[in-house]
Amino acid sequence: MQNQKSTAWRAWQWLDGRYQLAELMGALLHVEIPRSVQTYYLGGIALFFFMVQVVTGILLTLYYQPTPDTAYNSILFIMNEVNFGWLIRSIHAWGANLMVVFTILHLLRVFFQGAYKKPREITWGIGFFLLVITLGFGFTGYLLPWDQRAFWATTVGSEIAGALPLIGEQALIFLRGGADVTARTLTRFYGVHTLILPAMLMALLIIHLTMVHQQGLADPTAKSVNDASTPARKPKKLLPFFPNYLLDEFIAWYIMLAALVILASLFPAGLEEPADPLRTPPHTKPEWYFLFLYQGLKLVPRIMGVIIPIIGGLILLLLPLIDRSPYITARNRPVAIAIGSVTLIAVVALTIWGWLS
Ligand code: HEM
Repeated sequence: MQNQKSTAWRAWQWLDGRYQLAELMGALLHVEIPRSVQTYYLGGIALFFFMVQVVTGILLTLYYQPTPDTAYNSILFIMNEVNFGWLIRSIHAWGANLMVVFTILHLLRVFFQGAYKKPREITWGIGFFLLVITLGFGFTGYLLPWDQRAFWATTVGSEIAGALPLIGEQALIFLRGGADVTARTLTRFYGVHTLILPAMLMALLIIHLTMVHQQGLADPTAKSVNDASTPARKPKKLLPFFPNYLLDEFIAWYIMLAALVILASLFPAGLEEPADPLRTPPHTKPEWYFLFLYQGLKLVPRIMGVIIPIIGGLILLLLPLIDRSPYITARNRPVAIAIGSVTLIAVVALTIWGWLS
């Protein structure tokens, strides 16, 4: 043990002597955050689920075969023949859902605490794209098992792109790799799911976290952004990021890991019959996080059902530039809080409605 420790210590000394690692670790870890800030560890938990997805996703690619003739059977093989294959697959499926849940909760925390305002406009914008990519993971991953649900949910989902004004047809063909959902769609979705989206998410995540590190977390008790940025307003009560905050974050991850394994074991990911392009199932629905769009499409003319979410997305992306009031506390920005709450209630209501209908 002693010998091992000293070998590790010597290795550390060797590296530190060459790359000044202690200095780098100090700069990364020895930061302080205002005690008044409540992150509820949500951003960190979203990050945790992303790491789970990377690990389980790599394990799944060892057996998964992305062609219409082999995809379904390779999933059956993973579930029935590979040791703990069913569990790894279930953890991947539950992890995907929980990553979406916690990314949305993190967005809501940032919104309601006014942490998107100056000087964090770009951090918010990058966060918006992280959410879009997370949803993209869900959309592309859903097709991969190539069962009836996967095939028809993708057919219905990609039709939404076809309703886009002017570029609808081209968008649909680009998405599917042709007019219909075929082998080309599967290859395309597999490549996007396992290469393009992970690379994009990792790059944006590094930028997102570097920005948070550079600026520190927003103090939710500051009355206005001008007040928050004056050196005189530096919060008096600060919490060391390392070890205090980080330890709490790890406890949150540990609880999430337990919840994930319990959910994946009790409710394993299922598999329907193999995809059959000639047999439309009676009820085809997209994943729960697209249900509000799907239900909304039924209520308004098709073109509006596409344009309204695009405008909604743009407003969300540009929120820090649209809401320019300097106030941070919820009490001082009733209009933003009211609009945000009504939108949230509408999205939840549409989701539940879509789920039940
Ligand atoms: C993959 C998804 C995401 C991950 C892993 C992630 C990670 C994080 C982490 C770890 C933090 C610091 C701790 C915390 O606030 O919990 C943070 C802060 C922040 N995030 Fe995210 N984030 C993601 C998505 C988003 C989204 C969707 C938005 C908004 C559109 C966003 C906006 C922000 C902002 C503005 C901050 C600074 C908050 C402050 O100063 O209090 N993030 N993010």
